Amino acid sequence: MVKGLLYCAITLNLSQAIAVEDEAQKNGEYIFNLGGCASCHTIEGRAPLAGGLEMETRFGTFFTPNISPDKPTGIGEWSDEEFLVAMTSGVSPSGEHYYPTFPYTSYSKMTREDLLSLKRYLDSQPAVSQKNIPHDLSFPFNSRSILFFWKLFNFDGGPFISESSKSKSWNRGAYIINGPGHCVECHTARNILGGLKHEMFLEGNPDGPEGESVPGLTPGKDNRINQWSEEDILFSLQLGMIPDGDFLGGSMGQVIENTTSKLTEEDLRAITNYLKSLSRE
Ligand code: HEC
Ligand code: HEC
Repeated sequence: MVKGLLYCAITLNLSQAIAVEDEAQKNGEYIFNLGGCASCHTIEGRAPLAGGLEMETRFGTFFTPNISPDKPTGIGEWSDEEFLVAMTSGVSPSGEHYYPTFPYTSYSKMTREDLLSLKRYLDSQPAVSQKNIPHDLSFPFNSRSILFFWKLFNFDGGPFISESSKSKSWNRGAYIINGPGHCVECHTARNILGGLKHEMFLEGNPDGPEGESVPGLTPGKDNRINQWSEEDILFSLQLGMIPDGDFLGGSMGQVIENTTSKLTEEDLRAITNYLKSLSRE
C-alpha cells in the first residue's frame, strides 16, 4: 500500500515534470518563430535547421551554419551555457567572434528564460547531418579577429531593460522589436562598418538585406506607416496586406511568413502599440 502510494507519487511527479518540459518546448517553438531563425537557418523545401543559406553582402558571401542537434555537424554538443554565450555575446564555444550577419546584436537582449526554452526546442528537433559551408569573404573581413574591434564600436550587448513608466504591452513591444524580432536590424540604416546608426532608429534603411529599400517605421513624414491605423499595421503583420490592397514582399515576406503571422494577437498589439508610441516622443 505504502509502496503503491510512493509509486503513484513518483509517476505523478514524473508526469508533472514531463508537462513542464512540454510547456517549455512549446514556449521554445514560439520563441523560435519570434526570432525568425528559420528565415536564415532553414532553406525552404530542405531539411529544417541545416543551414546552407547563401547571404550576399558587400563584405562577401556568408553561408548560414547547421543549428540542428546533430553532434558532428550541428550544435548537438553545445551546453546551455555555450548557447547563451553565442546568442548574447556573439562568441562561439571555441572562443571565436561571430559576424553580425547573425543578429546576436539583437538576440543579446533576450531573457535567459526565453533563450533556454529556445534551446529546448532546438534540441527536440531532428538531427540533420550536413557540413557547414565556409564563408567566402573579402580581405580584411575574412579574419574573425577584426570582429573584436567591430564589437567595440558597434555592439553594446546587455539584456533588455524595461521602462517602469510604460505599460506592460509597450514593454513587450519594445522587447520584441529590439530583441528576438530583431526588426531594428533591417529597419535601421547602417554605417560604413555595418553597425546600426542608432540616431536613425527605425527610420528605414536604403540598403536592405536583399538590396531593397526598407521603409521607416517611425511617424516621420516620409514614412507611409504614419497614415496607417493600429488595425492597418496589425493586418499588414498578420497577412502581409497593406491598406491600398498591395502585399508586402522582399525580405519582409519571410518575416511575415516565419514570424509575425505566427504571433499571438496580444504580441502583435504590443508591437503596434510600441510603434505608434514612437510618434509621441
Ligand atoms: C539574418 C540571418 C540569421 C538569423 C535570423 C539567425 N541567424 Fe543564426 N546565424 C546566421 C549566420 C550568418 C551565422 C554564422 C555567423 C558566423 O559564422 O560568424 C549564424 C550562426 C548561428 C549560430 C552559431 C552556430 C555555430 O555553428 O557556431 C547559432 C547557434 C545560431 N546562429 C542560432 C540562431 C538562432 C537560434 C536564431 C533565431 C533566434 C538565429 N540563429 C537567427 C544568420 C542568422
Ligand atoms: C530581413 C529584413 C527585415 C526584418 C527583420 C523586418 N523587416 Fe519589416 N520590412 C522589411 C522590408 C524590405 C519591408 C518593405 C516590404 C515591401 O514594401 O514590400 C518591410 C516592411 C514592413 C512594414 C510595412 C511598412 C511600410 O511602410 O510598408 C512593417 C509594418 C514592418 N516591416 C514591420 C516589421 C516588424 C514589426 C519587424 C520585426 C518583427 C520587421 N518588420 C522586421 C524588412 C524587414
